[in-house]
Amino acid sequence: MKPQVVLSGVAKSYGETPAVADLSLEVGDGEVFCLLGPSGCGKSTTLRLIAGLEAPDAGSIEIGGTPVAGGGTWLPPEERKVGIVFQDYALFPHMRVRENVAFGLRGWSRRDARRRVDEVLELVGLYGMEERYPHELSSGQQQRVAIARALAPEPEVLLLDEPFSNLDLDLRRRIRQDIRRILREAGITAIFVTHDQEEAFYIADRLGVMRRGRLWQVGTPEEVFHTPATPFVARFVGTADFLRGVVRDGRVRTALGEFEVHGEFPEGAEVEVMVRPEYIEIEAEGAAEAVVVERTFLGGHYLYTLRLLSGERVRCLQHHDVTLEAGTRVRLRLRASHTPVVFPRSTN
Ligand SMILES: Nc1ncnc2c1ncn2[C@@H]1O[C@H](COP(=O)(O)OP(=O)(O)OP(=O)(O)O)[C@@H](O)[C@H]1O
Ligand SMILES: [Mg+2]
Repeated sequence: MKPQVVLSGVAKSYGETPAVADLSLEVGDGEVFCLLGPSGCGKSTTLRLIAGLEAPDAGSIEIGGTPVAGGGTWLPPEERKVGIVFQDYALFPHMRVRENVAFGLRGWSRRDARRRVDEVLELVGLYGMEERYPHELSSGQQQRVAIARALAPEPEVLLLDEPFSNLDLDLRRRIRQDIRRILREAGITAIFVTHDQEEAFYIADRLGVMRRGRLWQVGTPEEVFHTPATPFVARFVGTADFLRGVVRDGRVRTALGEFEVHGEFPEGAEVEVMVRPEYIEIEAEGAAEAVVVERTFLGGHYLYTLRLLSGERVRCLQHHDVTLEAGTRVRLRLRASHTPVVFPRSTN
């Protein structure tokens, strides 16, 4: 895929605080990329650097093959062909929907602007609402106006900074479906910031997990979930438990059984083995004994907390028709389809 946005060794500090450190990333043409990470990890700063609202201290940025920042180059935001949707969407309250969306179309002929506004309103499903004021729209509709406004000038890249964080959970879930469709239909390159793993998985072709200004892993949702690069990534993109293990003869022994180990570990290495609740089965023939400690109802599933003979705890996801009381003895095994991910002991 042709890269549309390229960051190479980008760094940005505010005083002593490094907000973004040595960040390199390529986002492909037409790709929907999510930046995922905890509060304060540098997600918004990264978007602001791409948009040209901040200048990098080091490194360089290219958009559509054109250098826009770094190495003595500087292209101001209005020349970068980038649209932005912020968290608070900042519509102009005194302007109708049509005027809000047409705002970035100065320099267009009246006819072209009108046609483009109709086109993007159609795309976001708000056709027929162009004469309303923002206060006459629901929050979800206002959010879509903000997206239409950002898309109207035909940017090459759309940046979205936690665009759903003002919406309630139910609406977030509904609108993220729309957004995915809108971004794909528009065929635009999009970088979407969120700290919600479920949202990132839902929307992204690929995602990058950030922490303390750095990207720790970039990959498809499946890659990041099943083969996290670090224990932090493992915990951030799902539920993970870590079991102590020792490497012997290319295999790792844990309280949950013995598994093949990939990667370079010396004989006798002490490691941590990541297991997810989705990987564990309760089965009469299972390799390890355990006791049910707690059961949590999640709707379609129960999440069980189990104590192994080693005293270590693991969680296990079961269909809602498997009901076990605390104190029940069971046997567990790791699903055959999962070769567990192994980390050196106490990395992060
Ligand atoms: N204008 C600024 N002046 C000083 N420090 C800043 C400024 N903007 C951001 N920072 C600091 O840079 C770091 C990264 O901030 P950033 O806004 O990029 O985080 P974020 O990942 O978007 O967080 P959130 O999820 O809370 O929005 C934080 O430590 C923040 O306090
Ligand atoms: Mg932010």
